[in-house]
Amino acid sequence: MSIATATVNRAHRLRRRPVGGLSDGDLELVEEAIPELVDGQALVRTLVLSIDPTCRLWMSDMRGYMPPVPLGDVMRGLGVGQVLASRRADLPEGALVAGWTGWQEYVVADDTQLEAPFTVLPDPLPAPPAAFLGALGHTGVTAYIGIDLGRVQAGDTVVISAAAGAVGSIAGQLAKGRGARVVGIAGGPDKCRHVVETLGFDACVDHRADDWREQLDAATPDGIDVDFENVGGAVMDHILMRINLGARVVLCGMISQYDAAGAQSEWAGQVNIGQLIMRRATIQGFLVLDFADRFEEAITHLAGLLAEGKLHYDETALDGLENVPVAVTQMFGGANTGKLVVQVAEPA
Ligand SMILES: NC(=O)c1ccc[n+]([C@@H]2O[C@H](COP(=O)([O-])OP(=O)(O)OC[C@H]3O[C@@H](n4cnc5c(N)ncnc54)[C@H](OP(=O)(O)O)[C@@H]3O)[C@@H](O)[C@H]2O)c1
Repeated sequence: MSIATATVNRAHRLRRRPVGGLSDGDLELVEEAIPELVDGQALVRTLVLSIDPTCRLWMSDMRGYMPPVPLGDVMRGLGVGQVLASRRADLPEGALVAGWTGWQEYVVADDTQLEAPFTVLPDPLPAPPAAFLGALGHTGVTAYIGIDLGRVQAGDTVVISAAAGAVGSIAGQLAKGRGARVVGIAGGPDKCRHVVETLGFDACVDHRADDWREQLDAATPDGIDVDFENVGGAVMDHILMRINLGARVVLCGMISQYDAAGAQSEWAGQVNIGQLIMRRATIQGFLVLDFADRFEEAITHLAGLLAEGKLHYDETALDGLENVPVAVTQMFGGANTGKLVVQVAEPA
């Protein structure tokens, strides 16, 4: 397809900051003309969008790690796209790229927008495009960096929450590769079975079961050396009561609190945070965006494992740009296994 046949964009614009979960009217799907390209610009067509928990933070006006998405703007988001037309040398026509597409069908990549870089993907692709948002993309790299920061080693007991999800599923397999005993926490018996039988974790705790605390105690008889924390709240509090001397808490995410973004006084305080003192433990928050210089190392490692058949990755895909809000709601309800994406178009 060329610019001549792509004149109209469809985009999700943020109209209202959600209160609690995302509701009808928070986003508006609009149609708008695609501007003519000028020198230094390329037109990228979104093929697949990444649905990430952090989108709920970006929609709020809380003190975050990036500015809130201004009301009226196209919703921020990562995706894989294809360059349809180009007036810039670094983005050749036809190339597949990963980067800040936003939740829209077409994006004009302007070389003056320093915050909108795209990375040209390898040709031929070693995996389907969506993998560059999952195991070979920012979520895989998050898992790789987090396991490294946790200094996971043979003999450790590592607990990973949201274990069946994009980050957790990869983190657990990397921890197993280092010789640790790995306990996942996931929602429901089917996900827990998957975490153990397919992903190879040693045990999995169903956080939706009434007896999840007892399950976690039974699965960690020698305590916990590393907590790869994706959820926060009550689950993290119980983990803190079981950490060993010198434990490492790697704080990757707190998805259980994100629906209260913008009302931060409503975030659950971690009641048992004092256990860090009692057990001389450390806690480290991190953001994958700060590790741009390690993306290549991480992706090379993950791609190697994938090629050797030593890394399993899952994907849950919805079809159609219009289904992005549905995907977000499903993610917060736990409907996804592995990386959640929305397919928008096929490559030309
Ligand atoms: N620090 C970073 O740079 C970075 C980068 C990427 C992601 N993250 C964080 O990593 C975490 C996982 O992200 P992801 O992209 O891999 O998402 P994901 O795990 O693929 O999807 C989110 C999962 O979280 C679980 N969940 C949702 N609400 C929950 C709740 N109230 N309590 C417990 N579990 C809940 C659900 O699984 P169940 O069915 O198992 O409950 C859901 O499937 C998030 O906290 C995210 O913000 C951080």
